[in-house]
Amino acid sequence: MKARLIESLNAKQATIGIVGLGYVGLPLLLRYCEVGYKVVGFDIDRDKVDKLLAGKSYIEHIPDNSVARAIEQGFDATTDFSRASEVDALILCVPTPLNKYREPDLSFVMNTVEALAPHMRQGQIVSLESTTYPGTTDEELRPRIERFGHTIGEDIFLVFSPEREDPGNANFTTNTIPKVCGGCTPNCLEAGMALYGQVIDQVVPVSSTRAAELTKLLENIHRAVNIGLVNEMKIVADKMGIDIHEVIRAAATKPFGFVAYYPGPGLGGHCIPIDPFYLTWKAREFGVHTRFIELAGEINSSMPDYVISKITSALNAVRKSIAGSKILVLGIAYKKNVDDMRESPSVALMERLRDLGAEIAYSDPHIPAFPKMRDHSFDLKSVSLTAETLASYDCVLLATDHDRFDYEMISKHSQLIVDSRGRYLEPSSHIVKA
Ligand SMILES: NC(=O)c1ccc[n+]([C@@H]2O[C@H](COP(=O)([O-])OP(=O)(O)OC[C@H]3O[C@@H](n4cnc5c(N)ncnc54)[C@H](O)[C@@H]3O)[C@@H](O)[C@H]2O)c1
Repeated sequence: MKARLIESLNAKQATIGIVGLGYVGLPLLLRYCEVGYKVVGFDIDRDKVDKLLAGKSYIEHIPDNSVARAIEQGFDATTDFSRASEVDALILCVPTPLNKYREPDLSFVMNTVEALAPHMRQGQIVSLESTTYPGTTDEELRPRIERFGHTIGEDIFLVFSPEREDPGNANFTTNTIPKVCGGCTPNCLEAGMALYGQVIDQVVPVSSTRAAELTKLLENIHRAVNIGLVNEMKIVADKMGIDIHEVIRAAATKPFGFVAYYPGPGLGGHCIPIDPFYLTWKAREFGVHTRFIELAGEINSSMPDYVISKITSALNAVRKSIAGSKILVLGIAYKKNVDDMRESPSVALMERLRDLGAEIAYSDPHIPAFPKMRDHSFDLKSVSLTAETLASYDCVLLATDHDRFDYEMISKHSQLIVDSRGRYLEPSSHIVKA
């Protein structure tokens, strides 16, 4: 059974099912189409499925014509999970958020597996790509599949292969980012290597699904902790009258042993603020307290308050208060050059400023209108930046430094700029670093 699956994967004869067609699932799906596999996309969101079938993309950096091309190559999308039996591989790319107690919320993964498992058949491979704690694949997915009479490693093959998508990074594409893969059994790993071998330039095998799960967490915890460190360094440097960005640029000239991380107004996105706490939660089962993760979380989540204190002082210096001031927030995506607002610190800043009585507006070339969000609401459209509009605000807060902003024009016409990204290198009387 394994040999037949591997043979059809290697020959690109296998049909690939991608489940969860978001920021991770959609680019992966297009990559499988590109190399010639037949692909079926599954999602519970009817709207997304309809858009794809109409040849339209809903992610800014993925053009419509790449979806249209996939359709021409026979790509299909559905909300009907009983069609899971049609495919040879099921790759799960569904969300793994935190619940309101900041504990792992695996409900999306569980719901997906429960919906697919009754339709799974012998000779399939299942790969979980959603970021999660070590043990998820083996302890949660495996029994839910085996309940239907399958034996993992014999008639169904199960792997964990974390996604490393970096939206907005023009230097890498899905195929050029090496991919880690761990199997529940040696047979599973062998099938996993074949699943990714034709679409990813370098697949990196590890000895277990747990090792693969922890690899992804280590990568993201490494970022969260180092960003926490550099955010703390920013506060210290500022008190000492030193520009942290100048220091980072100088330190980055060291050709070994130093990796540059950049401070900002806080963490954002679906990964870095969330994933570390998957490990924190699981580590408690083993009596371990993850102190670095907690400390980095504490520092990073206090950064919006630090930026607010800088805005308060900057306005105070010109005899104004936040209450009653008109404040324009530049960039509401969580990082530059993307249209993704999940966990964006800009939103936390807008809410704090609004609560303090400011009149808030925003400008973001990637987000024309403030979208409907579960926990946040602003009835705002992106302001287009002109000399007159900029001059009309008491304060312009640079929260996300998109390349599409005209920084010279912004500097020339703004009364006061609070720069939380270190974009303005030269000191100026109307620019305050935060
Ligand atoms: N976005 C990134 O840059 C990134 C990078 C690496 C890893 N990840 C991880 O990948 C996973 C997916 O993230 P994403 O950014 O693509 O999320 P997303 O929200 O963009 O997409 C998830 C998709 O899954 C669908 N979905 C939800 N429940 C479902 C179900 N039961 N069955 C089928 N589809 C369902 C949603 O409708 C949505 O289309 C997460 O675990 C995330 O941590 C994300």
